[in-house]
Amino acid sequence: MRKALYFMPLALGACVAAEPDTSVEAGRAAYEADCAACHGADGRGAGDFGVQLFTIPPDLTTLSARNGGIFPRDEVMSVIDGYDRSHAFSAAMPEFGVLDLGPTVIVEEDGIGTPVPAKLLALATYLETIQE
Ligand code: HEC
Repeated sequence: MRKALYFMPLALGACVAAEPDTSVEAGRAAYEADCAACHGADGRGAGDFGVQLFTIPPDLTTLSARNGGIFPRDEVMSVIDGYDRSHAFSAAMPEFGVLDLGPTVIVEEDGIGTPVPAKLLALATYLETIQE
């Protein structure tokens, strides 16, 4: 018991330091590390690796335009995660949900809170900023 009390301040300190970062900057950094090789640095789908694939990675700057002007955030997160993809979706794009997408944060929508991995939310937040 004494031992547990002794370690508690340390554990709390670690929690504060690990505050999930869902900012546009975090999303941009994650995008550059994990997505740009295929989707291109500008998101337009011409990454060095992407152009060699059978399925050319789509332009990620037109996601809103192709969805009636509304950024399809939840669909985008599902596709990145791998949770919801059509059967025709190319196997070339990894399912990032099997990797560590960081601690979860609660996203409130219509009064319902859904836990979402911080990195996934940051990626979607960043992609929304590059819509045409
Ligand atoms: C190895 C290459 C590769 C990597 C890495 C990759 N993608 Fe993809 N991505 C693709 C391909 C290919 C498709 C098209 C799949 C299809 O429609 O059959 C795609 C489709 C998508 C779509 C759907 C676009 C649409 O028009 O509906 C989104 C969103 C997306 N990728 C985001 C990302 C994000 C964000 C990352 C990084 C976390 C990423 N991708 C990493 C190859 C890749």
